[in-house]
Amino acid sequence: MKGIVLSGGAGTRLFPATKVVSKQLLPVYDKPMIYYPISLLMMAGIREILIITAPESLDQFQNLLGTGAQWGLKFSYLIQPRPEGIAQALILGRNFIQDDSVTLILGDNIFWGEGLAEMVSHAIRQKQGATIFLYRVHDPERYGVATIDQQGKILEIEEKPKKPKSNFAVTGLYCYDYHAAEYASMLKPSGRGELEITELNRIYLQKGELRAEYIGRGVAWLDTGTHQALLQAAMFVESIQERQGLLIAAPEEIAYRMGYISTKQLLEQAQMMRNTNYGNILIHIAQG
Ligand code: TTP
Repeated sequence: MKGIVLSGGAGTRLFPATKVVSKQLLPVYDKPMIYYPISLLMMAGIREILIITAPESLDQFQNLLGTGAQWGLKFSYLIQPRPEGIAQALILGRNFIQDDSVTLILGDNIFWGEGLAEMVSHAIRQKQGATIFLYRVHDPERYGVATIDQQGKILEIEEKPKKPKSNFAVTGLYCYDYHAAEYASMLKPSGRGELEITELNRIYLQKGELRAEYIGRGVAWLDTGTHQALLQAAMFVESIQERQGLLIAAPEEIAYRMGYISTKQLLEQAQMMRNTNYGNILIHIAQG
């Protein structure tokens, strides 16, 4: 049961903010963007996580995240020399995955809401096949789009169709069995020069082994790809955290609640951030 966070890409829609900083290191309100996908993997029970970055950002990700031991995790790192497609993550991660199942999440995908972590851990427990997670959007033409029958079975997936046949976008979260790297190696670059994740999912679909989970309206899937979307995501996080006095996607808290770190370890990490609400909420949690 492995996890990969794909955090490469050029982030051109966020220029000039991302000219020298990786998009996934930018803050979404009070924490780096990559904390959000890492938190989801943690809540699904995944502890061995490969972080794939662009070459120039590797050092910064390593400085931020370290070995993972501080959160009871084990991080490995690899670079993706060029953004040649999401499916390439599985080829690059082949030695890391070995014969295990793997959950791939894009480093800029933020989910928030009840039940999603359970959905992912359920998908991981399926020994064979793949699971994609669909979310209803008003602008499906920007995404991979799944067409489904009355029973919710996937009939077709199309990448950025001009005339989408449904409103169900394929989100940047995918659970695969141990065949994923092997199937990804069979892909050829698309017209835009990428190994398309949609093509990998189609291989599973053709084998009758692609499942869909529907993320309902009780869960938010936030976009962070443009300046406006990033600001809106930050405001969303701020308003919920402020209202509840709880944190969204704090790996320290999750590690503590999962039993990976002790109260003393949580407190030590929280103390370093005591000048922030983030730190103070963690201190409060540690003090029970
Ligand atoms: P995109 O939205 O395709 O790319 P981007 O956000 O980097 O760039 P732009 O603003 O120029 O459109 O990618 C979605 C996520 O997947 C993002 O987190 C980057 C990551 N990614 C990679 O790490 N490697 C890749 O080869 C691709 C295609 C994406």
